[in-house]
Amino acid sequence: MKDGKIFITGASSGIGKALAEALAVPDCTLGLAARRMERLQQLKGELEARGATVFVYQVDVRDAKAMEQAVDAFANSAGGITHMIANAGVKSGGRLAGGTAERLTDVFAVNVIGVINSLVPAANRMVEQQSGHLVSIGSVAGFRGIPGRSDYNASKSAVQIMMDGFRLELRAQGVKVTNICPGFVESEMTGTNNFHMPFFLKADKAARLIVKAIQRNKKTYIFPWQWRVLLPIIVRLPDWLVPQVR
Ligand SMILES: NC(=O)c1ccc[n+]([C@@H]2O[C@H](COP(=O)([O-])OP(=O)(O)OC[C@H]3O[C@@H](n4cnc5c(N)ncnc54)[C@H](OP(=O)(O)O)[C@@H]3O)[C@@H](O)[C@H]2O)c1
Repeated sequence: MKDGKIFITGASSGIGKALAEALAVPDCTLGLAARRMERLQQLKGELEARGATVFVYQVDVRDAKAMEQAVDAFANSAGGITHMIANAGVKSGGRLAGGTAERLTDVFAVNVIGVINSLVPAANRMVEQQSGHLVSIGSVAGFRGIPGRSDYNASKSAVQIMMDGFRLELRAQGVKVTNICPGFVESEMTGTNNFHMPFFLKADKAARLIVKAIQRNKKTYIFPWQWRVLLPIIVRLPDWLVPQVR
C-alpha cells in the first residue's frame, strides 16, 4: 500500500509483526503499537532499513486515553492516517467454572474494548479526512461458542457485529471498514496449542492474504478458503458434534 500511513496494534509478534513486514515499503509510514517496546524498536530498525518510515508506541490497548494519544501522535507525525489495523488480541481465559471472572473479562478488555479504543481515535481522524480504512482482526472462532474458548469466540463475534455496523455508519463519510477472520496462523498465541490445527498458515502468508483483502475492500474476509466452506456447516452442527478443546 504505497503512501500508506498505517497504524497496527499488536505489532510486536505474530500476525501484527508479519503485517508490518508485509507493508514496509519505501513510501509507507507505519505506526506500530504494543506493550513490549524493545521488540517494536528492533522491528523499527529492520523496517527502516527497507526504506519505510516507522514510529513506535508502547501502549496497552485497554487504556483508551493512551490509545488516543498514540493515534493522534502518529497522525500528526505522518500527516494523516490511511489505515488502522486493530490486531492486538489475547487467547481464551479458559472454562467458565474453576477460577476468577477476571480471566474471562480480560479477554473482552483486550479483544473488544481494545479494538474500540483503537478504532475511535482513528475513525475521528478519518471522518475529518473523509477517507481511511478501519480494519479489525476477528477470527473464524467468532461464529460459534466452543467449550473452553467461549470468551474468546464471543469477543470475536462482538467484533464481527460491531464492524458490520461501523461499515454502514461510516460509508457515507468515505471510511471503509473490514473485519479479517483468520483460521489458525503461526504466532505466539498458537505456539502453545497442543492440538492439531487444520489449514495452519505461516504468518507471512497470512499477512499477504490480509493485505490483499484490505486492498480489495472486503467487508469480512475469512481465510484460508477451507473455512469459508466449513463455517456454514460448523454453525449448524448439533451440540454433540462440537469439538471439545482442552
Ligand atoms: N494466530 C491465530 O491463529 C489467530 C487466528 C485468528 C485470529 N487471530 C487474532 O490475531 C490477532 C493477533 O494475534 P496473534 O495470533 O498474532 O498472537 P500473538 O503473537 O500473541 O500477538 C498478539 C499481539 O497483541 C499484543 N497485545 C496483547 N495484549 C495487548 C494489550 N493489552 N495491549 C497492547 N497490545 C497487546 C501483543 O503485544 P505485547 O504483548 O507486546 O503487548 C502481540 O503483539 C489477535 O487479535 C488474535 O485473536 C489469531
